[in-house]
Amino acid sequence: MAAAIDAAFDHVLAVPDDARSRLYEAMRHAAIGGGKRLRPLLVEATCDLFHIARDSALRVGLAVECIHVYSLIHDDLPAMDDDDLRRGKPTVHKAFDEATAILAGDCLHDIAFEILSDEATHADPFVRIELVRALALASGPAGMAGGQMMDLEAGRFGFDLPTVTRLQQLKTGALIGFCVEAGAILARVPPEGRIGLRGYARDIGLAFQIADDLLDVEGDADLAGKALGKDAEAGKETFVSLLGVERAREQSRLLVDQAKAHLHGAGAEADLLRAIADYIVERDR
Ligand code: IPE
Ligand code: IPE
Ligand code: MG
Ligand code: MG
Ligand code: MG
Repeated sequence: MAAAIDAAFDHVLAVPDDARSRLYEAMRHAAIGGGKRLRPLLVEATCDLFHIARDSALRVGLAVECIHVYSLIHDDLPAMDDDDLRRGKPTVHKAFDEATAILAGDCLHDIAFEILSDEATHADPFVRIELVRALALASGPAGMAGGQMMDLEAGRFGFDLPTVTRLQQLKTGALIGFCVEAGAILARVPPEGRIGLRGYARDIGLAFQIADDLLDVEGDADLAGKALGKDAEAGKETFVSLLGVERAREQSRLLVDQAKAHLHGAGAEADLLRAIADYIVERDR
């Protein structure tokens, strides 16, 4: 999946021979190489569940990775986390400049919806509009961007555990929720058939963010390819600052068991989803 995403970005982000070339180079710098591609993999895993054509799964995975990469470019800006390193490379505003980084993020956001709304993603326009709406909800003020706002306020307010949980559900969980739901949307599964998948997504989303917070405290910056220790430096409450390392790790494992329990009705076709749940808490980057 990672190689297919790189190849797809290479195609979508072909550099034009005019004064926009810097914008495309900046998008390529951020989008190609280095990421774990966890979100496209999750899309692939739920698409497997419903026997969706590989090309549709790849296009939806590419769209969500566009949103994710845009969010990382903006997250690293001086006005946000002010980071110099991402995926083992200089951040976009360091390799290029701030204005270019803002535009590169904006454009990746737009390209995500261009991909989803294209006929090649699914023949049925009702399916396409549901994908567009679900990704818009997951990315905007009721999802990722809303979570980023709460995250910026975290240092100021000293959030408690329920508030940190809500913050993380929006910041990270909403986009992961979209990835899991996408397979069901492509397969036209009615909402009552999505309950188990939604439970799975909620649990791995939180487990993923607890793992990110644990890596921030005790990870290896070379492996992570980004600066660590940022949460404590910014005085932000996280699962780790509120629970301590041991209880946070215990909680993340509990969430993974719970996530897998939501898949109890499914057979071997859900094995990739089970493996992803395990990987999310065992990862070192
Ligand atoms: C990092 O996401 C940002 C968060 C949402 C915590 P990933 O850990 O998935 O980053 P990449 O895509 O592998 O670089
Ligand atoms: C970033 O969260 C989340 C989004 C970009 C939506 P973090 O600020 O914790 O991510 P890292 O640790 O920089 O990757
Ligand atoms: Mg941040
Ligand atoms: Mg950050
Ligand atoms: Mg982090």
